[in-house]
Amino acid sequence: MGRVSGKVAIVTGAAKGIGAASAKALAREGAKVVCSDFDEPGGEALAAEIQRLGGEAIFVAHDVTSEAQWENVVAVAEKRFGGLHIVVNNAGIAPEGLPIEELSLESWRHTLAVDLDSVFLGCKHAIRTIKKTTATGAKGSIINISSIMGLIGWPHTADYNAAKGGVRLLTKCAALECAGAGYDIRVNSIHPGYIDTPLVRNAIANNVGAEDGIGPNERMEMLVSLHPIGRLGVADEIANMVLFLASDESSFVTGAEMVVDGGYTAR
Ligand SMILES: NC(=O)c1ccc[n+]([C@@H]2O[C@H](COP(=O)([O-])OP(=O)(O)OC[C@H]3O[C@@H](n4cnc5c(N)ncnc54)[C@H](O)[C@@H]3O)[C@@H](O)[C@H]2O)c1
Repeated sequence: MGRVSGKVAIVTGAAKGIGAASAKALAREGAKVVCSDFDEPGGEALAAEIQRLGGEAIFVAHDVTSEAQWENVVAVAEKRFGGLHIVVNNAGIAPEGLPIEELSLESWRHTLAVDLDSVFLGCKHAIRTIKKTTATGAKGSIINISSIMGLIGWPHTADYNAAKGGVRLLTKCAALECAGAGYDIRVNSIHPGYIDTPLVRNAIANNVGAEDGIGPNERMEMLVSLHPIGRLGVADEIANMVLFLASDESSFVTGAEMVVDGGYTAR
C-alpha cells in the first residue's frame, strides 16, 4: 500500500525538474498521475518513464496560464481516473534578472502570469473539482510551489519576488476558504531554496540576478555558500515534501508554508 494509493493527482510543469521528481514520487507511492506541461515531448517522455517503472500516468498538454486548458486538464483527470484529490501547482519560470527601473511592464506581466495567475487558476479549478471527489469521504490536497523568494527579497527579481510572495498568501486564503466551506481540501505552499534543476542551471548560465562582474562559476559558489548545509538541493528533496503534503500523513497541515532550503532563510 503506497502513501497516496487510490488518489488521483495533477502535477503541472511535470516535464522536468521539481515537477518530474514530484510526479514520479506520487506515482511510486500509488497515485494515478496526470502529468501536465506545455513541453509536449518532455511531458510525454516523463509519463512513459513512469509507466515503464510500473506507475500509472498520462500526459496532457497544458499551458498553465490558460483557463480553458485548466478546464480541460481537470476534466481529463476526472474522465480518465474518476475524480481528483491532489493538484501540485509547480510550473514556473525564472525572472529575467533586471533591476526594477529597467524591467519592462511586459516582462513583469509575463512572470506574474506564469508564476502567480497560473496558481490562482490551478487553485480555482482544483477546488471546484476536488470538492466533488471529497464529498464522497476522500481527502484532498493542493500544493503550491512558491520559493524562498516568496519569503525574502533579492535584488533584480522584483517580478519573481512579487509572484512567489503572492503564491504564499493566495495559499493561505485558499486554505481558509476550503476549511470554512467544510471541504476536506488542505492547501499549503512549499518554499524551496536553490534546487539543482534546469531552471537554476539556465539562470546561472544567464547570470540572472548576479552582481555586476560575477561570472557563472562564482555565481554557483556564491549560491552554494548561501545554504548552510553547503550545497544546492536536489529535486527529490522537494518531491519528498510534496509527497508528505499530498498524503494523509499531513492531515492537520493547512495554510502552512513549508520551507525546504538547506537553512538558507534560517539566518
Ligand atoms: N529550482 C529552484 O531552485 C527553485 C527554487 C524555488 C522555487 N522553484 C519553483 O519550482 C517550480 C519548478 O521549478 P524547476 O526548477 O523544476 O523548473 P524547470 O525549469 O526545471 O521546470 C519547469 C517546468 O515548467 C514548465 N512550464 C513553464 N512554463 C509553463 C507554462 N506556461 N505552462 C506549462 N508548463 C510550463 C516547463 O516546461 C518545465 O517543464 C517553479 O515554480 C519554480 O519557480 C524552483
